[in-house]
Amino acid sequence: MRVGILGAGPFGLALAARLARHEVPVRVTTRHVAEATERAHRYPVFAGRPALLADMATVLADADLLVLALPYPVALRLSRRFPAFSAGKLLIDVTNPLFAREQGDPFGAGEGCLGIARALPYVRIAKAFNTLTVAGLDSDAPDYAPYATDDGTAADATESIARGIGLRPVRIGPLSCAAHLESAALVDRLTSGARLD
Ligand SMILES: NC(=O)c1ccc[n+]([C@@H]2O[C@H](COP(=O)([O-])OP(=O)(O)OC[C@H]3O[C@@H](n4cnc5c(N)ncnc54)[C@H](OP(=O)(O)O)[C@@H]3O)[C@@H](O)[C@H]2O)c1
Repeated sequence: MRVGILGAGPFGLALAARLARHEVPVRVTTRHVAEATERAHRYPVFAGRPALLADMATVLADADLLVLALPYPVALRLSRRFPAFSAGKLLIDVTNPLFAREQGDPFGAGEGCLGIARALPYVRIAKAFNTLTVAGLDSDAPDYAPYATDDGTAADATESIARGIGLRPVRIGPLSCAAHLESAALVDRLTSGARLD
């Protein structure tokens, strides 16, 4: 299965590196190849692989499964405005629709994955990997990979990819459970680095 990751930020690159270390074919979209190539240098596995980073059209043409590793509002906008981008593909949504504290209630994070799924009614989609961290991916440590989906094919693909990179997938329920995964990631973010005194 060829994986295309939309978004060359810290998480997209860390996931791509983990996949590449486990010999899973992967490419990553970026708007700025030179800058993203610079960021990718931290991963030795990318050395000598200039085709790893490409524009969106190239990655979309190549991939069987897409990973939405964009800021949530960008992923939602893409899904609403250009739903054909994912036609015929499997889709994994790793976004965490977190709001900064100063923007109000951090748990009022909107519709999350269900908003994306509503915009893409014919796409086989799973919420997965959003509870992982860059540090966890980089460490290659075994970890649980809880996911939610309504679709058997998306479940199989998520299981296969998770196991392929040394994770233990756990299907927590249908896609309506995606909000639990988003909340779990939010709680983790809000408590990481917090002092216990
Ligand atoms: N960081 C984590 O530990 C972590 C953990 C779990 C889940 N997530 C989720 O994973 C997603 C990606 O997070 P991230 O940490 O990699 O960084 P991010 O700040 O969300 O950015 C990801 C990438 O998206 C692209 N991008 C940003 N704005 C865009 C726009 N308007 N149009 C097109 N592309 C745009 C940029 O790539 P280019 O500039 O290269 O085009 C950027 O590097 C987020 O939804 C986040 O919530 C992150």
